[in-house]
Amino acid sequence: MLGGRLLTVNDGSSIATVPDTNRHAASAWAYHDATKHSYASIRANPHFLDFANQPVPFKIYPTLEPSRLPSEIRQTGIAALSAVAESVPFNTNAAPDSRAVAQLLYLSAGITRQRKYPGGEIFFRAAACTGALYEVELYLVCGDLADLQAGVYHFAPAEFGLRRLRAGDYRNVLVEATGGEPAIAHAPMTVVCTCTYWRNAWKYQARTYRHFGWDNGTLLANLLAVATALGLPAKVVCGFVDATVNRLLDVDSQREVAFSIIALGHDSGLPLQNAPRVSAELFPLGLETVPLSRHEVDFPLMREMHAASSLYFPEEVATWRGRSPLANLPSPADLLVELQPLSDVEIPRDPIEQVILRRGSSRKFVRTPITLAQLSTLLDRTTRGVPADFLNPMGSQLNHLYLIVHAVEGLESGAYVFHRDRGMLECLKLGNFRDQAGYLGLEQQLAADAAVDLFFLADLRPIFDRFGNRGYRAVQLEAGILGGKLYLASYAQQLGATGLTFYDDEVTRFFSPHAEGKSAIFLVAVGHSAKP
Ligand SMILES: Cc1cc2nc3c(=O)[nH]c(=O)nc-3n(C[C@H](O)[C@H](O)[C@H](O)COP(=O)(O)O)c2cc1C
Repeated sequence: MLGGRLLTVNDGSSIATVPDTNRHAASAWAYHDATKHSYASIRANPHFLDFANQPVPFKIYPTLEPSRLPSEIRQTGIAALSAVAESVPFNTNAAPDSRAVAQLLYLSAGITRQRKYPGGEIFFRAAACTGALYEVELYLVCGDLADLQAGVYHFAPAEFGLRRLRAGDYRNVLVEATGGEPAIAHAPMTVVCTCTYWRNAWKYQARTYRHFGWDNGTLLANLLAVATALGLPAKVVCGFVDATVNRLLDVDSQREVAFSIIALGHDSGLPLQNAPRVSAELFPLGLETVPLSRHEVDFPLMREMHAASSLYFPEEVATWRGRSPLANLPSPADLLVELQPLSDVEIPRDPIEQVILRRGSSRKFVRTPITLAQLSTLLDRTTRGVPADFLNPMGSQLNHLYLIVHAVEGLESGAYVFHRDRGMLECLKLGNFRDQAGYLGLEQQLAADAAVDLFFLADLRPIFDRFGNRGYRAVQLEAGILGGKLYLASYAQQLGATGLTFYDDEVTRFFSPHAEGKSAIFLVAVGHSAKP
């Protein structure tokens, strides 16, 4: 529900009154509470999939020819465990060429596997995605690159190509929309990620808005790691004037909305002086797209959540981004276990390209233990910081990690919380919790058979106080990125992993009193995959 308050903004040339919806986080709370899973809600709302009306997994512009991207994958030789953990400093001058563009797109959203089944074919993509429904679309906004003309492009995974939607340099639209975000202002190229409601809501209904953050996040974990391997600085930007970015891409914002923006590369010669404020000149493209299904079912709750977390003016964006709310854990009690992560010389060196291509969600775990070094390396490598406009200073984190350990050599089974600043696990309770974990993971066997279940929990109150409703986008996106990193760091160590959904309040209850007041955001199970 939109709040009734208004915000008066003076942008230098005019004074306008816009809805001040973001600041009052009642909408995010309402959406969060309405989309919780519980034992009762699952049974009260059984949902049957209408396969005859299943959405197509790609956005297709039938009137535009794609130009093919180079298909050869360049081997960077950078160990996945380094690429996942590190990022290139912001002011390192670097620009992608078309081969780097191809590599970034293929290894984050390209088709890496296909499987036929009686009703059709699934085109699996480089990053994990709820239900393999792939609701995230990628658009490129670039100036002239070495071998790619300036323009706004849509990435077409099926053809592995780009369709040019606008010719010319539109980067200033993004500079304006992000309130002058420095990473965008200096970026030779930016990727805009949009999310399409119906493609995912066909299966997950109104909970899909959470999936936007998760599925966009896993994709970004790959994109960030590949950017690092290619020597490109990258930054995730969550603060932007929604309507301007949607207008640039000319998406129908009732169906598809910009969710995150990623600045890639750095050019210290930018931003161009005297660049015009071009957003006013954006003409609609009117391009035909192929309908996703025969008919679509609308879930207004999600569009309300999106509208309530929208930003309307660059000045509003500039004050939105910045310092993260402090999310310190209480000082630990005595039951502490020191982590033993592998050092740079000890880590497995499988390169990032190889690890992304062999990743695939575990469909069954065997109950063989992993080692404390493997778990420690997972935690260490995935939580060193994400470059994002809502994580300031770099290294801030909105989510906390709570673990149920089932089978880790050198660590007693039980429930733990991860103290990132100390590199330690605090034991909350000891015991064999396989049955409880399976139950918490929406009664799925994967959570019971894993070696360890890693739950993301966040205290939404300070996050909403600081970031308003849009804090909900940020916290889900961060969890997705960290979850995507966990996937990669697991496969880099020859382990398996899968994202899982969960019974919200029961997760909090399981980790309480420590987790009291927090909300369950995401879950990743890690262990040894059973051979298919
Ligand atoms: C956020 C997230 C949540 C997921 N939840 C579940 C789940 O509850 N149960 C399940 O079996 N798989 C789950 N998966 C795995 C997806 O089904 C899987 O990623 C998708 O089928 C694509 O296959 P791939 O990961 O092997 O490429 C989840 C994946 C993600 C990214």
